[in-house]
Amino acid sequence: MPEYVLRIRRYSPDTGAAARWQDFTVDLEPHQSVLDGLLQIRDRQDGSVGIRSSCQAAICGSCGVRINGRPHLACHTHLESALGTSGDGIITVEPMGNMPVLKDLIVDMDAVHWKKIKRVTPWLVNSEPVPEREYVVPAQSMLDITQSMACIQCGCCVSDCLSMEVDPLFIGPAALAKAYRFVGDPRDGEHPARLKDLAQDPHGMYDCTHCFNCIEACPKGVAPMNQIMRLRRIASADYGIEDDNNGYRHEHAFVRNIERNGLLHEADLLPDSYGGKFHPRAVPALVGSLPAIVKALMRRKVTLGKALGHPHKAPDDVKRIFKVVHQRPERRELNLYVTGTEDEDEPTYARGGPTDGSSAGHTPAERSPNA
Ligand code: SF4
Ligand code: SF4
Ligand code: FES
Repeated sequence: MPEYVLRIRRYSPDTGAAARWQDFTVDLEPHQSVLDGLLQIRDRQDGSVGIRSSCQAAICGSCGVRINGRPHLACHTHLESALGTSGDGIITVEPMGNMPVLKDLIVDMDAVHWKKIKRVTPWLVNSEPVPEREYVVPAQSMLDITQSMACIQCGCCVSDCLSMEVDPLFIGPAALAKAYRFVGDPRDGEHPARLKDLAQDPHGMYDCTHCFNCIEACPKGVAPMNQIMRLRRIASADYGIEDDNNGYRHEHAFVRNIERNGLLHEADLLPDSYGGKFHPRAVPALVGSLPAIVKALMRRKVTLGKALGHPHKAPDDVKRIFKVVHQRPERRELNLYVTGTEDEDEPTYARGGPTDGSSAGHTPAERSPNA
């Protein structure tokens, strides 16, 4: 049987000692999981190794750890594939990031993850009047939220969220994906209030910097960043919610910028996001960014002519795309998570798929904003 070396980050707050690495060798089959390795270590070599696990089948979400520096479910990562990403033949296992460590590989999910989930009112608030019998929900609407419902609350996305690293108060990918689960549900009666709350919160939906880490990290294909973008589009395009965080204006400035230039012209984006170069709101932002502009000019990353002029002009293809989009009678949200056709026996899920064994198969789900 092959041997694998697992290098585990050890930390016990009771001892007062600093965190340290400890190597263990396990003999297991290549298809067995990193969690199998950790449990073997705990059974045979050191009963004090702290790891949280339950289902061992990628369902309960309790075994999230960082393997070779990236968040994974330990029970869902084969030893052989972990070895393949190790670089030096040693599989490193450490606790998830952005959450305090309680012991070894166990992090305090209550302090960060669950606190943020509670922040977004994670339950359905009935729209009134409540029907005498059951609500009848269009299948398309339910398909649209299937992706966010696939979340198993493992915290892997939270672990690698770059915004949360800079702003620990950021509501974060998992909680915002959860928020979309209710904003996308036509039975919920609080859509405008939920969206306004998340837009106005300085640590809310506009605090995400599109780093894509949560999409990479999620073992269930929830793609939290995509759910955040949906929240933004619905807030801005469907409800016209203007926020104090400049999110609404920035989004519209971005679209106008591309429509005008074809490519993003950064020099216009900042002032346009604040209402134009001469708007009183723009002045402090422009003054604040002067050092960065001067540095870019000195390093010749940008020339004065390019910064002040309009180097690009939108080509006809881009203009045509905008024309088609502007002429649509209503905005439609395309969900590519569930693909296939209604007469197929099995639906195809983009990645991960639902965890509840549901078997609905439909054409790409489109969200009509007022469905
Ligand atoms: S895309 Fe946004 S929410 Fe996702 S990890 Fe990056 S900053 Fe965080
Ligand atoms: S969104 Fe994905 S990574 Fe984040 S908690 Fe849910 S299942 Fe885990
Ligand atoms: S032990 Fe349940 S997801 Fe890994």
